[in-house]
Amino acid sequence: MNTHSASVAQETTSRIYFNEVVTRDGFQNESVFIETNDKVALIDAMSECGYAKIEVTSFTSAKAIPMLRDAEAVMQRVRRVAGVEYSVLVPNVRGAERALECRPDELNLVMSCSESHNLANLRMARPQSLQTLLDVVGHVQQAKPVHPVAINVSLSCVFGCPIEGAVPLAVVQQLVQTFVDAGVRGITLCDTTGMAHPAQVQRVCDWALQAHPQLQVTLHFHNTRGMGLANVLAAVQSGVRRFDGSLGGLGGCPYAPGATGNICSEDALHMLQAMGFDTGVSLPRLLPLARALPDLVGHALSGQVAKAGVTEDLHPMPCTP
Ligand code: COA
Ligand code: ZN
Repeated sequence: MNTHSASVAQETTSRIYFNEVVTRDGFQNESVFIETNDKVALIDAMSECGYAKIEVTSFTSAKAIPMLRDAEAVMQRVRRVAGVEYSVLVPNVRGAERALECRPDELNLVMSCSESHNLANLRMARPQSLQTLLDVVGHVQQAKPVHPVAINVSLSCVFGCPIEGAVPLAVVQQLVQTFVDAGVRGITLCDTTGMAHPAQVQRVCDWALQAHPQLQVTLHFHNTRGMGLANVLAAVQSGVRRFDGSLGGLGGCPYAPGATGNICSEDALHMLQAMGFDTGVSLPRLLPLARALPDLVGHALSGQVAKAGVTEDLHPMPCTP
């Protein structure tokens, strides 16, 4: 474990702030539309589990992300629970205008650290995306008296790009600095396609916490190559206390067909709780939701704890003949 001052300050607290992204990052990749009623029921149930934040949906073009075309209806109908922040992803000012009407607590803006991935995902070069997001920040600052909302920026492909390969840390550093200068509350460092490894995660997290001690730094891992929880461990040992995860590990990756999605929320929470961290999340409440999710999406999921139970679940001695 490193000893620099920013990490030490963050390590004094054992509180973990967990952001559940299944209804955004998970559902956006499904091939069959999840009914609005089912989305609302799942979000309402998750609101009772103790999450710090839920990323409810995204206000993107319905052509780009048809699975989330009911963003307004979902946001208007979910029952807000005190203590839970309701965040939504927006790609541009149009998305921000739509989102603000629904009174989210946070807007999550997104762009990629890789030029090729940015072109593939957002159909814009990085300078244009950067300007688009800074326009959103300006729009939100103007709208603040009527619609106060926090801004987070999720940077994709921080740890590598499936098209270009390695992404220089200097690119990440410059983007983070630009958004910090623009006044955002938080940055999420995303391993969009599961390329990060723990030694790299520790280096990047050490830099982020030391360089930006006032910033909310969140880590977003995908388990595409089975390194997801190892990367959570590296990040938490570095002092990071904010994570994204998806119920059941739902989510996919267009660049690695058949690969698993986000790190599985209940598996990550179970690990962090076993290590003594206070996640605020009740696993007895959450596990039934994880166990019901395969029926909702129509396929099996990769989460382990929903299948095996928590480590405190003991079993009777097997009967010997
Ligand atoms: N909400 C609703 N509609 C939107 C929109 C938004 N936020 N932004 C653009 N549109 C509409 C436009 O009005 C236009 O509609 P039309 O064809 O009926 O005229 C259409 O979408 C295309 O818009 P355009 O400005 O040409 O952009 P684009 O097609 O290049 O799309 C994005 C750009 C970023 C809006 C689109 O690619 C997108 O939403 N991507 C989602 C990325 C994402 O969420 N990825 C996963 C998370 S990382
Ligand atoms: Zn993701």
